[in-house]
Amino acid sequence: MSGDASATDGGSLAPLEVAGSVAVVTGGANGIGRGIVRALLEADATVVVADVEQDVLDTTVAALSASHPGRISGVVTDVSDDDSTDALADHVFAAHGRCNLLFNNAGVGSGGGGRMWTHEPNDWRWCYSVNVFGVANGIMSFVGRMLQSGEPGHVVNTSSGDGGFAPVPNAGVYASSKAAVSCLTEALAHQLAEDSDLVGASVFYPSGGLMDTGLFTSQRNRPAELERVRGGTGRSSMTFQQMKDLLEKAGRDVKVADLDEMGRWVVECTARRQYLIGRDLESTVDLLHRRANAIGALDLPPHHQMGL
Ligand SMILES: NC(=O)c1ccc[n+]([C@@H]2O[C@H](COP(=O)([O-])OP(=O)(O)OC[C@H]3O[C@@H](n4cnc5c(N)ncnc54)[C@H](O)[C@@H]3O)[C@@H](O)[C@H]2O)c1
Repeated sequence: MSGDASATDGGSLAPLEVAGSVAVVTGGANGIGRGIVRALLEADATVVVADVEQDVLDTTVAALSASHPGRISGVVTDVSDDDSTDALADHVFAAHGRCNLLFNNAGVGSGGGGRMWTHEPNDWRWCYSVNVFGVANGIMSFVGRMLQSGEPGHVVNTSSGDGGFAPVPNAGVYASSKAAVSCLTEALAHQLAEDSDLVGASVFYPSGGLMDTGLFTSQRNRPAELERVRGGTGRSSMTFQQMKDLLEKAGRDVKVADLDEMGRWVVECTARRQYLIGRDLESTVDLLHRRANAIGALDLPPHHQMGL
């Protein structure tokens, strides 16, 4: 038994030694996940990159193998499919004997923004299958084995300020999937604190600027069986540039995040077992106080202010 029931950090968990550890990063072929992969390699971990997009995965692994030979490999994985995440875990434990760090990072947009009644069931199914079941499948395939291995370990689930803290109303499908990630991670961290002195969990809120990643084009990975069939009119995802223009037009000072620097920060926070991995949270904390006050007054809580 480690930590008390209200612990917000790693409780009594010792800091994790990243050097020499074995790490798995889902959705690690691109974007934020690739920044985490780079940081793990720089910190001397061995990394298995799991991604559904074979060509991008091959390119990333080949590029990073050149500077880190023998310490990176790729496994084509669809996190929405529990057989696929089980096969990934089988591979990792057979090849490396352990998994110390699991980053459940793969995620997709929802098929864009718009009123939720203008979406159709397949928009919700696709978004939830990757963003919610993808994380749940990672937990079910890995955590029992991580605990059994007797090795120090940590699970980091990627949420979003959109939903994880408060919804951006016009991105309600995505927001609600990320609310699930934040909630399930909190429960996981409490369960692990009760059951283990070695394995913990954290939730990661990508933050520190606008992120130029493939999330804006995540439709590229939408499976044919979850395409729209009912003529849903919810907006398709906008591009990074469109989002940047929109925010600038709304008078925001848009800073573009450095994904490699973000990856290093995530790995440092993970190593010290920080529960909530987020930054620039001043306005979020203020929003959460106002939300708590509204809930206490039985009112509709204020939403996330991002100009979507
Ligand atoms: N970009 C942002 O502004 C932002 C903000 C907050 C949270 N996030 C979250 O960060 C995470 C990473 O997203 P990103 O912005 O780097 O986007 P990205 O598209 O660049 O990266 C996501 C990766 O996940 C992979 N992927 C998609 N579906 C998959 C599946 N079924 N199985 C396995 N891999 C799959 C993609 O191929 C891609 O490599 C996501 O969970 C996203 O929701 C992103």
